[in-house]
Order: sequence, then structure tokens, then C-alpha cells
Amino acid sequence: MATPGAVEAKGTGGGTDKMAALKEIYKQLKAEVLEDHAAEIADHESAIQWIDRMVDYNVLGGKCNRLLSVIDTYKILKGVDVLSQEETFLACTLGWCIEWLHAHFLVLDDIMDNSQTRRGQPCWFSVPQVGLIAINDAIILRNHVLRILRRHFKGKPYYADIIDLFNEAEFKVVSGELLDLIITHEGRKDLTRYNETIYRHIAQYKTAYYSFYIPVACALLLASENIDNFGDVKNILIEIGIYFQVQDDYLDCFGDPVFIGKIGTDIEEYKCSWLVVQALKHADVNQTSILFENYGKSDPACVAKVKDLYKELNLELVFREYERELYIKLIANIKAQPNKAVQTLLKSFLHKIYKREK
Ligand code: IPE
Ligand code: MG
Ligand code: MG
Repeated sequence: MATPGAVEAKGTGGGTDKMAALKEIYKQLKAEVLEDHAAEIADHESAIQWIDRMVDYNVLGGKCNRLLSVIDTYKILKGVDVLSQEETFLACTLGWCIEWLHAHFLVLDDIMDNSQTRRGQPCWFSVPQVGLIAINDAIILRNHVLRILRRHFKGKPYYADIIDLFNEAEFKVVSGELLDLIITHEGRKDLTRYNETIYRHIAQYKTAYYSFYIPVACALLLASENIDNFGDVKNILIEIGIYFQVQDDYLDCFGDPVFIGKIGTDIEEYKCSWLVVQALKHADVNQTSILFENYGKSDPACVAKVKDLYKELNLELVFREYERELYIKLIANIKAQPNKAVQTLLKSFLHKIYKREK
């Protein structure tokens, strides 16, 4: 199997050369899955073209944090700045598999959340002629992950563990998405049922596990480590992942849609967002009734009233304070880790997202 050139990546900066090398590996992986499709439906060129476009549309265009995390983690574990061609290819392939899985979740999440835009373009299901074909496309993306893993990892001693990891990731995310969606039924009955405990459950399952733990677990398996020995690391990564979702919720309301590439729908969709949980915690009786009257409505005037209330309650400051305190706590936990490489790794993850604006 051809292995495109080694990637000299330092940190997570993601320079142009580095991204170009990663993109070459992506092209190879996509060409291979298209070959697999062609073996089944070669007579239907339009279907192959559809999948080609669908994969580019949904897998590319993001920040590639999860992909970069696999590479960075592997380098830190190995204590090197430059990887061999073979190692680069394998780490990137695992990273791209997480990006592919992420694309699978996003296609479905955008349908369920009634979203309009993602990564600065219309959500896949709202592209002309796509509609609910997007559901089958999402399943195709999930299938690609297994095909890529089979092609490049079958026969490796850790193959079964990798498959298990991806299955576990999916199980966690679908559980989290279910909670995220059906808890809104509770919220509609009584908004005050939303609280920090429920919030943490949702964030941990739908986001933290696959976004922060899986990239590290992939790198650990690639480095022939036993992932069961990294329980503390996993717990800290989950905490960082919950923080990442808190930021996502904050940006859903206060971020610039042009900059973050998506238009928030949390207020309209009655989501158990970090902001509404904080608003309920800080609001007086009058302010709570404003929330009850306006939360979960698609009318822009209602959405504006909720946003005004968030401002009145100074949630921006509450968020900055949460962020500051969490940072101090996490750094203390990280410094308590006995292994220096693990400390470096966890610090790099935290610093990648601390005070992020997109
Ligand atoms: C989505 O959570 C989590 C997954 C896609 C698994 P959100 O619904 O809060 O994420 P965005 O804001 O649409 O990206
Ligand atoms: Mg969403
Ligand atoms: Mg969602």
C-alpha cells in the first residue's frame, strides 16, 4: 500500500504543508472506498459521483481537531517530532476515520436539530435534491469507517480493539443524542427540570467521549499501549470534552455565525443548553417566567427575548468565570499525573480549546 510522505507536524498549528499532506491521505482513503462502491454498483456512475461529492461535502471543511489529535498524541507518546511514513499513514488514517465518523454524526444531528448551516455551507440534508437521502448517506459514511479500518488495519494485533473503540464511540454518541433530544420533552413540560447533572450527562455522551477520548485511545492502541491503564487520562479528557460542549453552547447563542460557520438553534429547539441551565440558576421569579414564555419557540422575537435575558443575567461573565475556574482545576489535575508525556498531552488538549472562538 502506497504511503504518502511523512508529515512533519509540530503542535496543532496545522500549517499549509501539513494539511496538504493530510489531504493526500484523505484522497487515497476516499479513492479506496469509491473503488469498493464501484465493485458493487459500477454501472451506476451517477451513484459513485454522488458518494464522491457527499464525502467531500461532509468530511472536509471542519477544523480537523480530532484528526490532528491522533497525530499529536502519537508523537507525544513516542517522544518524537517526525514520524516515519508508515506511522504517519496509520495515525492519519485513524484520524480520518474519526473525522468520517464525526461527519456521520453531524449529518444526522443537523436533521434532528433543524439546523441550516454547518461549516459555512448549507447542512447536507438541505442541499437541493438531498433531503432525507442524507440519512442513507450518513449510514454510508459510518460504513466507510469500517471499510477503511478493515483495509488498513486487519491483521494488526490491535485491530479488534480499534473496532471495539469505534463501536463504543457510536454507542456513547447515540445515547447522548437520544438524551439531548428526548430531554426536551421534559423541558417542554417544565423547564426547571433542566439542571447541571443532566447537562453533564448529555455533553459527556454526545460529545466528550468521541471528540476527546477516542483520538487519544486510537494513538495509544497504535503505540501498543494498554488503554485500560489510562483511566485517569480518560477522565480528564472527558472533563475537557464537557468544557468543549459548554463552549459550543455558548457560541450557539453568542458566537458570530459567519465565524463559527453555523447558525445556532438551541433556543428554538428547547435544548438543555449550558446557557439555559445557568439562566435558570441565576434568574429571579420574573426572569424565570420570561424564560418559560419564550424558550423553545421559533418566533425570532421570542429568541431575542431569551438572548436579552441571558445578557441581563450577565451569562457572558458567568461563562468566563466557569472557564477560568475550570482551567485552574484541570491544570491542577493534569499536574498531579505521574507521567510527564501524559501531562504534556493533556495540557496541549486543554490549550487547543481554551478560550476558543470557533
Ligand atoms: C452535537 O451536539 C453532537 C454530535 C454531533 C454528536 P450539538 O447539536 O450541540 O452540536 P452542533 O452545535 O450542532 O455542532
Ligand atoms: Mg446540532
Ligand atoms: Mg444536537
